[in-house]
Amino acid sequence: MSEKKIKKTVVSGIRPTGNLHLGNYFGAVRSFLKMQHDFNCYFFIADIHSLTTHPTPANLQAGVRQVLAEYLACGIDPEAATIFIQSDVPEVTELYTYLNMNAYLGELERTTSFKEKARTQPDNVNAGLLTYPVLMAADIIIHKANYVPVGKDQEQHLEMARTFANRFNRMYHHKLFPAPKPFTFDGKDMIKVPGLDGSGKMGKSSGNGIYLYEDPADIRKKVMRAVTDAGPTEMNQVKPEPVENLFTLMKIVSAPETVEYFENQYNSCQIRYGDMKKQLAEDIIAVTTPIRERILELVNDSEYLGKVARMGAEKARESAVRTLTEVRELIGLRKLY
Ligand code: ADP
Ligand code: TRP
Repeated sequence: MSEKKIKKTVVSGIRPTGNLHLGNYFGAVRSFLKMQHDFNCYFFIADIHSLTTHPTPANLQAGVRQVLAEYLACGIDPEAATIFIQSDVPEVTELYTYLNMNAYLGELERTTSFKEKARTQPDNVNAGLLTYPVLMAADIIIHKANYVPVGKDQEQHLEMARTFANRFNRMYHHKLFPAPKPFTFDGKDMIKVPGLDGSGKMGKSSGNGIYLYEDPADIRKKVMRAVTDAGPTEMNQVKPEPVENLFTLMKIVSAPETVEYFENQYNSCQIRYGDMKKQLAEDIIAVTTPIRERILELVNDSEYLGKVARMGAEKARESAVRTLTEVRELIGLRKLY
């Protein structure tokens, strides 16, 4: 048996809806880098998923190109992992159709992300939004993935992918799909990188992102503007959410001694948020600077980006076609000629 066959399979994707930010990096991409040499990895750009927000063709194409360049700039190696664009593997939409026949309105309507979108964008509650988790399940199980490195916000979608995979197996009396499990960088809980605007997660469309391509001066400005409070007045006081978020981000990007130092300062009511923010900004810049430089180099290298996308599409299609042949056979969609 070749070495590739015994490696466990990994699938994950990011929508081309904007530049990658620290949430994408620490929630997902950092795990991609850790896994790419030890697993059979498929990392893709979820362009079909992004159609729920109706991008213009020009914006969609620019977004795909940008995320591809950013994947590579982060250090994903196209020789080690399969990097591809979702729409280059049309088999996934066929599997999505089959899975849709066994995905129920009730469970789709109860999905947190759907309820949230239905509330915040009532004028665009389209069917693609409702069946978003079904397409995501198809992405994952078409390569028979064992692990999916994603941030905490995708936990429920991943649980639904397991439900749809198990349901298919049961329905056709065949264990075709493994149950895909979450993978986290440190083997602990899935993470949520907070925004620095007081509450919630950092997101591409939330206007609170710190981007990998960003100029250090802009990063400093954003961090210095982060919401805090007047400072603790009692020893070991519970931190309000905006301050807790600052510490959460620091735990993700800074050295443990740095975090400990500022924790002690906070707990003894001596903290100077300005100093903490300065340190945090420098620790963020240390992560982003090398990536930023590579993004600027790569994004205009159309020839290289095209080559990577073509190579990835071929490898991903091969795996997808293999699975779909089995799926059609199990369902009973057999050719009469
Ligand atoms: P966004 O949420 O920024 O629009 P995507 O939805 O395409 O980006 O997310 C791509 C990946 O990045 C997913 O694995 C998601 O869990 C992860 N991710 C996005 N934001 C965060 C965050 N704030 N913290 C942790 N992971 C995140
Ligand atoms: N739904 C994911 C997000 O919004 C993106 C995504 C699409 C994905 N298909 C996937 C992630 C498959 C992991 C595996 O972030």
